Amino acid sequence: MIDLTGKVAVVFGLANKRSIAWAIAQKLSEAGARLAICYQSERLKQEAEALIPELRDAQIFQCDVAKDEEIDSVFAQLKATYGKLDIVVHSIGFAPNIKNTVLQTAREDFRVAHDISAYSLIALARAAEPLMSPGGSILTLSYYGSTKVFPNYNIMGVAKAALEATVRYLAADLGTKGIRVNAISAGPIKTLAARGISDFTQILNAVEQRGPLHRNVETVEVGNTAVFLSSDLASGITGEVTFVDCGYNITGI
Ligand SMILES: NC(=O)c1ccc[n+]([C@@H]2O[C@H](COP(=O)([O-])OP(=O)(O)OC[C@H]3O[C@@H](n4cnc5c(N)ncnc54)[C@H](O)[C@@H]3O)[C@@H](O)[C@H]2O)c1
Repeated sequence: MIDLTGKVAVVFGLANKRSIAWAIAQKLSEAGARLAICYQSERLKQEAEALIPELRDAQIFQCDVAKDEEIDSVFAQLKATYGKLDIVVHSIGFAPNIKNTVLQTAREDFRVAHDISAYSLIALARAAEPLMSPGGSILTLSYYGSTKVFPNYNIMGVAKAALEATVRYLAADLGTKGIRVNAISAGPIKTLAARGISDFTQILNAVEQRGPLHRNVETVEVGNTAVFLSSDLASGITGEVTFVDCGYNITGI
């Protein structure tokens, strides 16, 4: 059993109980970490308030990562509340008009997809760094659409490629301070974000039919890997994209 007692973890990206962020928060909490959970806007506050009593000693904070002033404000609150951060989880993605093909993607939609889904990791890492010490871990969530073309994933695939490259550069930047930066590439999971992708069941079915384990991944499995990557057991791993996809990415035909 991994022991994260004494560690403070902040998890960004809780929308509801199906969110990958929620499974990660639950598993980090079970391992003994103190949890700060961030939700995007007033609209999602009630959901966060209803969920967090399940976690021991957790608190919620609001932060829209599109706004620098909200990032500054939330990290000031985190500093005042905890004084330090050991684990940062970025479980955020958004692409407007994701239904458009890459060829049809408007300049502004490209910008927003990359701002929310990739740049925000840089902004959060920069704000977190002064509160983190050697041994700290930053983790984000990616998808195989960064590398291979999936139907209807469109501009989000391009943004995930940027996110994965960002992980590698941040790992180099923060490695000098002993802070690790990694991504989990999760298999398809029915969440709020996934609802925006047309024919998502086609992707789920392909994993069941052709993936080595012939089933889809569960959020709890992503949560378990997040605990490992955030812990000292993963002290030699940084700049990596770890697949938690029931092996689908190794499949040719
Ligand atoms: N569900 C999947 O199949 C799957 C697979 C691989 C990777 N992922 C990635 O996992 C991450 C979490 O997604 P999820 O599937 O749990 O869906 P989700 O909808 O539960 O989570 C997405 C979160 O992003 C947040 N968000 C969007 N714009 C924001 C902003 N401006 N400021 C702050 N927060 C913002 C939303 O509020 C939401 O909480 C995303 O990066 C997603 O791309 C999902």
